[in-house]
Amino acid sequence: GAAELGPYRHYMQKEIFEQPRAVGDTIADIESITPELFGDGAYAVFKDVEQVLILACGTSYYAGSTAKYWLESIAKIPTSVEIASEYRYRDSVPNPKTLVVTISQSGETADTIAALKHARSLGMAHTLTICNVATSAMVRECKLAYITRAGVEIGVASTKAFTTQLAALFLLTLALAQVRGHLTEEQEATHIKALRHLPVALQAVLALEPQVIAWAEEFARKENALFLGRGLHYPIALEGALKLKEISYIHAEAYPAGELKHGPLALVTAAMPVVTVAPNDALLEKLKSNMQEVRARGGELFVFADADTRIESEPGIHVIRMPEHYGPLSPILHVVPLQLLAYHTACARGTDVDKPRNLAKSVTVE
Ligand code: G6P
Repeated sequence: GAAELGPYRHYMQKEIFEQPRAVGDTIADIESITPELFGDGAYAVFKDVEQVLILACGTSYYAGSTAKYWLESIAKIPTSVEIASEYRYRDSVPNPKTLVVTISQSGETADTIAALKHARSLGMAHTLTICNVATSAMVRECKLAYITRAGVEIGVASTKAFTTQLAALFLLTLALAQVRGHLTEEQEATHIKALRHLPVALQAVLALEPQVIAWAEEFARKENALFLGRGLHYPIALEGALKLKEISYIHAEAYPAGELKHGPLALVTAAMPVVTVAPNDALLEKLKSNMQEVRARGGELFVFADADTRIESEPGIHVIRMPEHYGPLSPILHVVPLQLLAYHTACARGTDVDKPRNLAKSVTVE
């Protein structure tokens, strides 16, 4: 009821602001990395696998898409990510030495459970879930599990479940890296320190809300938006576009910025806001030239730039300054202003934010 909302207008807003707590709780008791964080017998499973197959839907699928970058760069394990409803209905080439990872907030999504069973029927017995509900069907069906501690999520558009899934998937990456000999004690300590600092870092990003509200007023009058990201922030751009369409009903799509010239550049005019996720990572210079491609066509850029990128506001380029680059965990910070942008744009348009039309929180039928 309204009482539980406290100072917030909607559950979605409350849940966005709960993320420092939710992520903090999800990683709370972790002082060192061990496979057993994922359950008894995890070491033997991790030792046996030579690839990862992630199965999920919706926002959980984008968490998986982000994790693929971590798993391949840090744990050096080949990873594929599949939309559950596609995987279950196509012929694939099973490898019994696969770690099948399902990701689900509810643990009850019919397509994801069916995809898991399909993988098992193909002889893949090493199953693990990242799930927010300990008593769910998904947890019962998987041999290994990591329970995220987002708490009950009410808003149909997932927010705190996503960032906690990312935190859990980062732990999984570190555990696999350790078993495979790709994690020194020094690296382990550095990563754990960064994980533990996340609640404070998230708080700093939430403080950007007033600046995002100013942008949302402008977005509320648009009918289309393009989101750009590169590398491990491409799935974050996808998640930002999904959030915007789900609750504000503005048509939004996301592209990896280097792919702009192969199509979506044709859509760019002054009427098309282009949201750009700009972390200070190895792809920054490439991203800047992609931004110039947009500017040259009159497109207006709305950039979430790390403080150390030196991207400045100028005509046609609006900048909200993020904290300094946060290394591999940066996606967990960069998704937050995109959640806020979707939320405040939807509020400005007067939509039913917590219960968007045609959508359900948990899709338990095919
Ligand atoms: C629905 C929800 C989404 C969610 C997706 C997957 O579409 O509206 O927010 O991401 O299901 O749900 P799951 O519970 O499996 O993460």
